[in-house]
Order: sequence, then structure tokens, then C-alpha cells
Amino acid sequence: MNQLDRFKNITVLGAAGKMGSGILLLNVLHSVKLMHLPQFLGQTFVINAVDQSFERLQGLMDYIKNQVQKWAEKNIVELRKQYINRPHLIDNKDIIEAFVADAMSLVKPSINIEVSYHSSLIFEAIIEDENIKTKVFRQINENNPNKPYFLSNTSSIPIKVLDDKAGLEGRIIGCHFYNPPAVQRLIEVVQLDEPITELSSLVEGLAKHMNKLIVPANDIAGFIGNGFFMREIIYAVNLYKTLQKDLSPAEALLAVDKISHELLIRPMGIFQLMGYVGVDVCSLIMRVMDSHLEENLNCSFLDELLSKGVKGGQHANGTQRDGFFKYEGGKAVEVLDVESLKYTEVKLLEPKVDEYLDFQTKVYSWNQLSRSKYKDQHIQEYFAQLKNDESKGALLAKEYSQAMRDIAVQLYENKVCDSTDYVNAVMMNGFYYLYGPVNNLMD
Ligand SMILES: NC(=O)c1ccc[n+]([C@@H]2O[C@H](COP(=O)([O-])OP(=O)(O)OC[C@H]3O[C@@H](n4cnc5c(N)ncnc54)[C@H](O)[C@@H]3O)[C@@H](O)[C@H]2O)c1
Repeated sequence: MNQLDRFKNITVLGAAGKMGSGILLLNVLHSVKLMHLPQFLGQTFVINAVDQSFERLQGLMDYIKNQVQKWAEKNIVELRKQYINRPHLIDNKDIIEAFVADAMSLVKPSINIEVSYHSSLIFEAIIEDENIKTKVFRQINENNPNKPYFLSNTSSIPIKVLDDKAGLEGRIIGCHFYNPPAVQRLIEVVQLDEPITELSSLVEGLAKHMNKLIVPANDIAGFIGNGFFMREIIYAVNLYKTLQKDLSPAEALLAVDKISHELLIRPMGIFQLMGYVGVDVCSLIMRVMDSHLEENLNCSFLDELLSKGVKGGQHANGTQRDGFFKYEGGKAVEVLDVESLKYTEVKLLEPKVDEYLDFQTKVYSWNQLSRSKYKDQHIQEYFAQLKNDESKGALLAKEYSQAMRDIAVQLYENKVCDSTDYVNAVMMNGFYYLYGPVNNLMD
């Protein structure tokens, strides 16, 4: 079967989830483009949007329609070229309407996995559970005569484990989109040791069409992104515990968040990031990695939090749930004392934390620098000054930065990636760092 022919019938599993809905949207946009290629004119394309939650599927169609409409309005010039064969469509409005109708006609929402038995490509974004993913893959594979390719969005489970357990004969690849898939440019691609060339080139072509950047990772639990993130969590939690010699739990938490956010010029602090991803998700990923790696990656702090009901994550409308912080208008305004589970206003704790850190270097905000054309220059200057700052905050920031470099080097030495440049690429594109952790700017 021709590579592109495989797109004529595809399935997105977990289509109503956080990642699945974005992956579905990207595929809808891609498939409409294919429909207009001369070799496919007049042919039928199908995208099964499969999810076990009927309620979530109901909202999904509105979401896709909304997003497709917005995309069309922004990309009318490209659409005019796509619809050149329909000369009766003159006004922008008509073209946009036709495009939205074409896009929506592709999507077939369903709670029945059986619809995927006719697909040639299976995009999977269901819960991060080895047994559930394996069971679903096996069922589809055993009932689908097309020998489909499986593109898994797993962020931590080794692809070989899924392949072996589900009996897929190598027809699987890790195609790890970042959140939110429609916006984030990065895809971490994880191939088996002996990949199927056609599948690798299909993913390459797809990424190009979707304007995504591929970073290759080797098939080791956690890959690059979570390999880094989970080890950073362990470092940050240890630091948080150490700082409690001098600070209250809430102050220590705020201090670690400030170091990783403001002093290292990142978009958010490590506890904010854990809250954004969700403590439950972090715990799940940590467990997967712990079960597959010899290294001890057990972080009991996460389980303690969950047992106390501290979860974080987001509401359906994308706003942040209470977790380590309470948010107002997207800004963290209260911080949690994890022991007593009481929140205190950040502004009440900040003076004590700032006095403790006693930071002397002028700080640039991530927001400010990410938009500046002098970004790299300012970052260099900042780290040059930080090097000579002997305050407690500067020492902790320097140690933190060094620990992050060690994690990145460890990923390379453990063969998770073939170059430390890939760690930089993942952290800069998937986590929005302004500089790679491997470039220790204080050298
Ligand atoms: N959330 C992130 O930031 C993120 C980032 C990268 C990768 N991932 C990975 O993407 C995958 C999905 O994560 P998510 O955050 O979107 O989860 P989610 O809980 O938002 O979505 C999962 C969806 O799968 C559905 N589902 C569960 N079991 C199913 C089954 N057997 N058949 C059909 N549908 C089923 C659920 O109803 C839900 O809608 C996981 O493997 C995760 O590790 C997540």
C-alpha cells in the first residue's frame, strides 16, 4: 500500500482526551489537504474519532469545528489554492464554509473500537497504562486485515514492550506529541531497533506536513522529555525538603519554584509545571519509568500528595485546578502548605523568601526575554552576572542549573539520545526553555 493511501482510513484512539483531540485536529487538517491532491480527487477519506467516553465525544465535534473554522480564517490564502478546482467558490466566506464542511465530513466519532478494524493507521492517545494500551492494540491488530501501523503517543512506555506484548510485528512507532499538539512544534519520535522504513518515512512526511520538528529519542522508558522532567522533579522535591531546615513548607515550596522559574528564566517553576501536568500524571509516569529502569525513580512525595487529594491539572475549559498553587487570571496567587493543606497568599510569604534568597542579580522575566531580539545576548549577560553573585539564591540557582546539566548528560550517557543537542531541542521546543540545559552558561 502506498504511504499516502494509508491516510484514507485512519483512527485516533482517545480522540476526546487532551492529546487525542489535538492529534485529531492535526489529522483533519492534513487529510483535507490530501483530499485535494489530484490522485485522491473524488475519493473518500475517513477519520474515526474513538473514545470510551460518550460525553467527551459529544463536546469533541464542537471543539473540532471551532478550531477548523479558526484555522480556515487564518489560512485563507492557502485555502484559495486548495479550492482552485471549485471555481464557483468565490468569496472567502464560501471557501471557508466548504472547507469546514469537508473537514467535518471526515470525522466519525464512535465509542466502538471495532470501527478501527478498517483503518490502516492507528494514532493512539489513551491513558498511560501499559496493559490497557497493549490490550487495545492487540484487539485491533488481531481483527484488522490491513496490517495497520500504530503511532503511539506514549510519553514513557518503551515501544518495544508495547510491540512485544501486543504482537504487532514491529508495526509501531512512538510519535510523542507535546501538549497542546496543535500548538507545540515538537514531536519526539521513538523507533524500534529495526524500524520499518516505510513507517519511519511516513512519520517524517506527516511531521513535515504538520510543520513539526522531529527529535529522535531512543527506546528507553521516559524518553527524553519525561526522562528529564521526572528526574528534575526528584531533584526539586529533595531541594524543597532541604530548604525546610530554614523555611516553612509553603515558603520552601515557593523558594524552589522561584529558583526554577525566575532565577533560571523559565516560563514556570517546577511545582507550577507539575501542577499544570497534574500530580496524578507525574506519578503514573514516574511509576512506569521506575518499573522499566534499574535506577530508583520512586518519588513517594507524589503519592503522599495524591493521598491528600492534591492533584492539580486543568479544568475542561483549560483553566488551572488548585494544586500547589491557587490561580487567579492565570497567575499563582496562593501557595499550598503541603503538610497542613492550607493556602497562604503568595504576597504574604514572598518577602521572607526573597530575604532568604537575597538574590543580587537583575532578573529578566521569561515573558520579556522570549519576545526580545536580544534574548541570547541578555541570557549570556545574566548568567555572567549570576556567576559572580554569592547570595544564597544565586548559589541555589547555580546548583540547580548544574544538576539540570547533569540530568541532560546522564540521558546521553544512558543512551536515551544520541546527542545532548537533542535534550536541548526537547527542552527548548517542548518545555519552552530559552536555552538548553546542556549549555551551562556559567562556564
Ligand atoms: N497530557 C499531556 O501533557 C501529555 C503530553 C504528551 C503525551 N501524553 C500522553 O498522551 C496519552 C494521553 O494522555 P492525555 O493527557 O491526553 O489523557 P486524557 O485522559 O486527557 O485522554 C485520554 C482519553 O482516552 C480515552 N480512553 C481511555 N481508555 C480508552 C480506550 N480503551 N479506548 C478508547 N478511549 C479510551 C479517555 O476517555 C480519554 O478521553 C498518554 O499516553 C500520555 O502519556 C500526554
